[in-house]
Amino acid sequence: MISKYETAIAVVTLIVAAGLSVPRAMAAGDAARGETLSQACLSCHDSEGSRNPDLSYRVPKLGGQKASYLFVALKAYRDGARQDPGMTALAGTLTDQELADVAAYFASLGNETAAAGGSPSGSFNAARNCGACHGQNGIGLSPGWPTLAGQHEDYLVHALNQYRSGMRQDPVMSPLVSSLSDETVALLAKYYSSLEGLRTTEVK
Ligand code: HEC
Ligand code: HEC
Repeated sequence: MISKYETAIAVVTLIVAAGLSVPRAMAAGDAARGETLSQACLSCHDSEGSRNPDLSYRVPKLGGQKASYLFVALKAYRDGARQDPGMTALAGTLTDQELADVAAYFASLGNETAAAGGSPSGSFNAARNCGACHGQNGIGLSPGWPTLAGQHEDYLVHALNQYRSGMRQDPVMSPLVSSLSDETVALLAKYYSSLEGLRTTEVK
């Protein structure tokens, strides 16, 4: 029997095949300009496990994250598709070119583990429908598909819940996670956070 979940996956596969979710028109970023623009970002993103005391989740790790995903995420804060008071205010002042520069800078601070494809993963049944995009080891397979391996567990729970509640909208992710239970979300977050991959950005 084909479940609602499998139907959703077939639909998103078509969307992806049609190229609708692939970020377009990302200007080439200049990492050196991005470095200057990123000074305001480091207080939160450069410190291991930093957390706004009002929030239940830590600031996401960016070290090793995909450049075009960083660009898409920043644009979403700026344009209001993704809401976070701090991030919206910061990204809101930047042009597309400046966002591409910042994304290029953070992507340049990646790490060898993520670049090499992470560590071998155990097989977790609930993640079987995620690997086609996020990689079997949690390392995103395309520049627009974020790496999940090594991300903070509490941030992953938060991100999945945002798609589930509609606070964060994405034509690919929203239908995929809408039918997941709280329990599965918790297990998925635990699984991906336990894999080797993303690290807190380190500025040398
Ligand atoms: C006050 C702390 C703070 C500052 C300063 C800050 N961020 Fe963030 N950042 C956060 C938090 C918290 C989130 C998660 C927000 C959410 O729920 O979407 C986040 C999310 C992000 C994401 C999305 C990551 C993902 O996995 O989806 C990117 C990219 C990002 N920040 C880049 C930046 C850049 C670039 C700057 C500087 C222009 C910056 N941040 C400044 C706290 C901060
Ligand atoms: C067809 C490709 C595809 C599949 C399958 C898929 N994802 Fe995603 N995922 C994406 C894309 C694209 C994004 C970025 C969306 C956005 O900009 O908000 C994303 C974002 C995410 C994020 C947010 C990352 C961050 O840093 O904020 C999480 C968590 C996530 N996916 C988990 C999952 C899980 C768990 C599954 C399986 C149940 C899954 N995804 C299946 C493509 C996919």
